[in-house]
Amino acid sequence: MNAQAWAKVDELIDRSQGKTLREYFAEDPDRASRFSIEAAGWFLDYSKNLIDAKMMKALVKLAESAGLKDEIEKMFTGKKINATEGRAVLHTALRNMDPKAKVKVDGKDVMPGVRKVLAAMGDFSDKVRRGEWKGFTGKRIKYVVNIGIGGSDLGPVMANIALTPYSKRSMKFFFVSNVDSTHLAETLREVKAEQTLFIVASKTFTTQETMSNAGAARDWLVEKLGSAKAVAKHFVAVSTAEKEVAAFGIDTKNMFGFWDWVGGRYSLPSAIGLSLMIAIGRNNYKRLLRGYYKMDRHFRTARFERNMPVVLALLGILYVNGYGAESYCILPYDQYLSRFPAYCQQMDMESNGKSVDKDGNPVTYSTGPIEWGEPGTNGQHSFYQLIHQGTHLIPCDFIGCSNTHNPIGDLHDKLMANLFAQTEALAFGKTAEECRKEGEPEKLIPFKTFEGNRPTNTLLCDKLTPETLGALVALYEHKVFVQGVIWNVYSYDQWGVQLGKVLAKGVLSDLVAKKPSLKHDSSTNQLIARYRKAVGRA
Ligand code: F6P
Repeated sequence: MNAQAWAKVDELIDRSQGKTLREYFAEDPDRASRFSIEAAGWFLDYSKNLIDAKMMKALVKLAESAGLKDEIEKMFTGKKINATEGRAVLHTALRNMDPKAKVKVDGKDVMPGVRKVLAAMGDFSDKVRRGEWKGFTGKRIKYVVNIGIGGSDLGPVMANIALTPYSKRSMKFFFVSNVDSTHLAETLREVKAEQTLFIVASKTFTTQETMSNAGAARDWLVEKLGSAKAVAKHFVAVSTAEKEVAAFGIDTKNMFGFWDWVGGRYSLPSAIGLSLMIAIGRNNYKRLLRGYYKMDRHFRTARFERNMPVVLALLGILYVNGYGAESYCILPYDQYLSRFPAYCQQMDMESNGKSVDKDGNPVTYSTGPIEWGEPGTNGQHSFYQLIHQGTHLIPCDFIGCSNTHNPIGDLHDKLMANLFAQTEALAFGKTAEECRKEGEPEKLIPFKTFEGNRPTNTLLCDKLTPETLGALVALYEHKVFVQGVIWNVYSYDQWGVQLGKVLAKGVLSDLVAKKPSLKHDSSTNQLIARYRKAVGRA
């Protein structure tokens, strides 16, 4: 992070010490409209943040000092910005709806390949949806089970829930990710083999959880249908690894490919979205891509002051580095977005959970925050107490949709009233004086006072549609990108997940061996020994 540009931000924080959101709002009647942006179907009100025009200028300078404009162009034009893996980062090419667009990696235009896979996904999902793709016994497919984990699961799960109103209700969709056999077993209880399509979704096709679940599902299917030949009609693959797919026994004719320049956590708009396309149909899937594309164009062209992902990123950095905020909350006030916080968790924490900068030196500042959240209003009756009156500063994004897909009486008005009221309460709190005026007994005043000054962003769309969902995902993707650029970390690798994977192999062999070597530390050895005893392998 550029020290000089940051020093200016720091200085402004020092100078504004003690200034409250009440004061900010009182001194500027235009504050709400001044600090609002509209893009790709979303309206962002960021006026309830600890900022003024000078602070926003200093933050924009911070972005400029990181060479953000050039970095954005590098990403969109296929430069190998994922340097530790020597890869381009081109999830934006997957939803580039310009029919004439050319995006080159190593001198080769990737767009024809993108369009080809999209068309193949469309043809396949049409066949499944119309009942033309028959199972081994000639029956149509009714159940789709996506087997994948991380980016090969969280996006499809999140979007399948989010776009339920667009989903083919006569079909049922399941997502198996955990290597805990309960996940697969409970899913298999819900489906009939004859009518089930398994989508094995794995970029590498080597991930332990996915390959174990896929193998077990294949055994189950073969046993239920009495022939190994059934696999061809009930298994398809989504992967970058053709050889591994063939080795698993899936005909590569039934493989939908993508490329090493699509990061797992950015892969929803690639073939990884196949289960979603089957659920909502190819036209609605295109609408989703169009929403992504709208936000992509906004991000690439809008000046930083009016650029929604850039502004969200800068505000996040202000709190992480200027106010010591360690966590960050995403609060969707829409049941259909119930898995959106979990989806953002991987996108953000696997991307910017880094402590070494691009030169390989330890960073001297905090980077990606801990991200969490739950749908409103459930969170209000659970953890909001801590956000309102606890000792941690937790900036929050409130996300709402003005129109519901399911109007019932005044429920939606109540939901939205809660959203708006929470941002009001967090910003302005309640003073001791106000408590007294309301007749609160003096001894309860300290407990009933709300300090306020808790920063929030509010994101509103007219309705949750494929377009607005696509734009929302792109918004957060680009926010994470901007933060990574400013923190000067590589956002597109994830070496931190490797060690656990490697050690798990060694532990597994000790769990199942006749004579375990038990060369671990005393704690791990003790846990392995105890487990072996409990399962009768002592
Ligand atoms: O957990 C690490 C990770 O590599 C994620 O980045 C990725 O989304 C997930 O595993 C699944 O990987 P794959 O799609 O190769 O099975």
